Amino acid sequence: MPDFFEDVARKWKSFSGGRHPSTRIDEEAVLTTYARWAPVYDVVFGAAFRAGRRAAVGFVNELPPGRILECGVGTGISLPYYANDHRIHGIDLSPEMLEIARQRVADQGLPNVDALVEADASDLPDGDATFDASVAMFVMTVVPDPQAVMSELIRVTKPGGAVVLVSHFADQKGWRKWFGEKLSPLSASLGWHMDFSVERILGRSELRLVQRRRVGPFGFFTLIVFERL
Ligand SMILES: C[S@@+](CC[C@H](N)C(=O)[O-])C[C@H]1O[C@@H](n2cnc3c(N)ncnc32)[C@H](O)[C@@H]1O
Repeated sequence: MPDFFEDVARKWKSFSGGRHPSTRIDEEAVLTTYARWAPVYDVVFGAAFRAGRRAAVGFVNELPPGRILECGVGTGISLPYYANDHRIHGIDLSPEMLEIARQRVADQGLPNVDALVEADASDLPDGDATFDASVAMFVMTVVPDPQAVMSELIRVTKPGGAVVLVSHFADQKGWRKWFGEKLSPLSASLGWHMDFSVERILGRSELRLVQRRRVGPFGFFTLIVFERL
């Protein structure tokens, strides 16, 4: 089994431009990585992350109609899931990923997507308290500065609104820890840090933890919902 992981990791490493787990995930690395992944992202990561996306958007769809920020919207793979009475504003750093999202909106005629904007999640162009909910799916473990992104999600979300996150966070023990370590070289090709501790995004005084539960295949991902205080 370890040989399998090492073999796949070698192939992915070469596809993703030779990135290595120790590579610093700075803005340039994100841009390079997602420029390469964009054309095949949905095929490779569509199904694997689907349950996590469904859980996060499912929570948002239970909220009253409102303005929703999808941070790190990528190829817009989740856009068709949102209830029609929400207004969706997507941002992403990668122009190549956004181009696919725009094509999806055009092809599927999604009427509730207001904008897809190239922007850095750690320095959002939006005003304070703009959105009723902010969502980041499989983003927090990829961004160069997760604390800054949390601060921005908090800033742009209205008091009483929701901050909704889903990602894989590092497990301290058991088979998920073992599996996470095995996947680490693969996930590095996405700029994704498998050793990202959930503690790094908890404990903000502006947020109240509302929900934290495992989702997806074998509970490998975690959905976290906060209320913005
Ligand atoms: C693993 S993909 C997740 C995409 C999508 N949310 C999904 O569910 O598949 C991570 C996304 O975060 C974006 N990203 C990484 N760093 C970012 C930043 N600082 N600001 C905005 N987007 C960023 C990447 O370009 C990429 O589209």
